[in-house]
Amino acid sequence: MNLLIATKNRGKQKELGRLLEGFGVSVSSLADFSDAPDVVEDQPTFAGNARKKARELAAHCDLLSLADDSGLEVDALDGAPGVWSARYAGPHASDEDNNRKLLSALQSIPAAERSARFVCVLALATSSGEVVFETRGLLNGRIAEEPRGAEGFGYDPLFIPEGERSTLAELGASFKNAHSHRANAMRELKRYFDETPEVPDPQTKPDDGALNVRRR
Ligand code: IMP
Repeated sequence: MNLLIATKNRGKQKELGRLLEGFGVSVSSLADFSDAPDVVEDQPTFAGNARKKARELAAHCDLLSLADDSGLEVDALDGAPGVWSARYAGPHASDEDNNRKLLSALQSIPAAERSARFVCVLALATSSGEVVFETRGLLNGRIAEEPRGAEGFGYDPLFIPEGERSTLAELGASFKNAHSHRANAMRELKRYFDETPEVPDPQTKPDDGALNVRRR
């Protein structure tokens, strides 16, 4: 089975690619589709955006596609930045801009009230645009008072997972591969693949029009 990782975010591409090792699927990336459209993430929920990206890119690339939408929810900010995580400090904000804005929004908030979570919704769509699987993974923690560490991307230098003293950017890839919101969601996807040896794939539609299955 060939599976497209439907994201243009290099950090996520790398993490998802690594997490898919051992799934027994061959993986394509959007780097193989230079004409792939930029899907507008205009839905109010992570699930809405993940579904939209999976559907549009699956249809464009004619491949079973896995998309994720993810972000950070901070309790003291009523769930912000949420679906706006990538664009929190503006449409072309860098990770550093977003982190600066987050620290400034939490300036007067004490350590005990800086609880937050990373959320990842994964959606799997067939090339005909049908979402056949969806799941949500979480990583609970809190926001540090200053950035620490050099690994990862996004808000990693500010996020301290529950039970840890270091930020994700200090803990590094091995911690994220085992415990991240994305890793937790991918475990559910693995369960789906294991329980569904024949993932529906209309790409191989027979002449009578019945939905075919693609054997992995
Ligand atoms: P998306 O491409 O719309 O899903 O944007 C997700 C945004 O949420 C990223 O650009 C980051 O700012 C943030 N984010 C999601 N996952 C992570 C993570 O694992 N570490 C740090 N930041 C993340």
